[in-house]
Amino acid sequence: MIYSKVIGTGSYLPAKVVTNFDLEKTIDTSHDWIFSRSGIVERHVAAENELTSDLALHASRKAIEAAGIDANEIDLIIVATTTPDQHFPGSASILQHKLGIKNGAPAFDIQAVCSGFVYAINTADMYIRSGQAKTVLVVGADIMTRLLDWNDRATCVLFGDGAGALILRASAEPGILVSKLHADGSHHDMLKAAPLISMDGKAVFKFAVKVLSDVVEELLEDQKISGSDIDWLVPHQANIRIIEATAKKLGLDMSKVVVTVASQGNTSAASIPLALDTAVRDGRIKAGQNILIEAVGGGFTWGATLIKW
Ligand code: ACO
Repeated sequence: MIYSKVIGTGSYLPAKVVTNFDLEKTIDTSHDWIFSRSGIVERHVAAENELTSDLALHASRKAIEAAGIDANEIDLIIVATTTPDQHFPGSASILQHKLGIKNGAPAFDIQAVCSGFVYAINTADMYIRSGQAKTVLVVGADIMTRLLDWNDRATCVLFGDGAGALILRASAEPGILVSKLHADGSHHDMLKAAPLISMDGKAVFKFAVKVLSDVVEELLEDQKISGSDIDWLVPHQANIRIIEATAKKLGLDMSKVVVTVASQGNTSAASIPLALDTAVRDGRIKAGQNILIEAVGGGFTWGATLIKW
């Protein structure tokens, strides 16, 4: 049996930080409102000349270094993003060039908004399990602040920019154990960017809590395990209240949940790999642990993956 094993992680946040107090000066909001509704304190904002592929490049270099491989060993690149550098070519091709990879490895983007990373890791896993790839770079990178209407206080306070990456390698040892993915396009209007983000916040909140609980339950049942078998829950970081509600359904104490939303806001496809890298580098995530990632995003799309680290 071939598994996909995580052998390195990396992440990158743009230098500029915008706090809730900064936002108080430009729109009718307050730190207390934002923090109490979302758990967000500040977010990083990409510089004008920074592109999604630049954020992805910084994160990928760190993941490649952590994995101890040469970039040319990578034989597939998948970038999950909703904010590509341009309509085409895809950010994955541009990233391949910026990394100096000249081996002709396939490279493509996946667009499933905040669930993009879960979709991407599942796709990478399928390539590895089928023998079509051995060493895959999976990236989640987004510059959501370019999709914001900075006069819409209901949305502009929630998002930030960033990138996270990991390297998966074919292995005989258990790695990614299972993924469960779903979509329901009938709610495509509830949360969209056309071209700027608009959202029915309350409806999104309710929907998110319901489908995340359902998909996590589906995954646990499939694996015949329970919440107590999970060492770390690493959720998409949209809102602390959504995260707490999902952890509660799982019967998981918040001390078992990796939370980065306070300092990053919602970075869409980047939030899970950013959180994974944080917890790997600070020593919380260790080899042999069961790591559960889950996300929901526009579409709606949602999913969860269980990883033996
Ligand atoms: N500052 C101050 N007041 C605000 C702000 C703000 N930034 N934004 C909205 N308000 C006002 C509204 O105008 C409204 O006022 P009104 O009652 O006078 O009309 C009021 O606050 C609404 O307040 P609440 O009902 O308390 O808002 P709620 O508790 O629903 O919180 C929020 C709003 C944070 C958007 C919540 O619904 C939410 O988190 N939804 C999920 C959205 C989300 O996470 N989306 C991310 C993308 S999808 C994903 O990644 C899962």
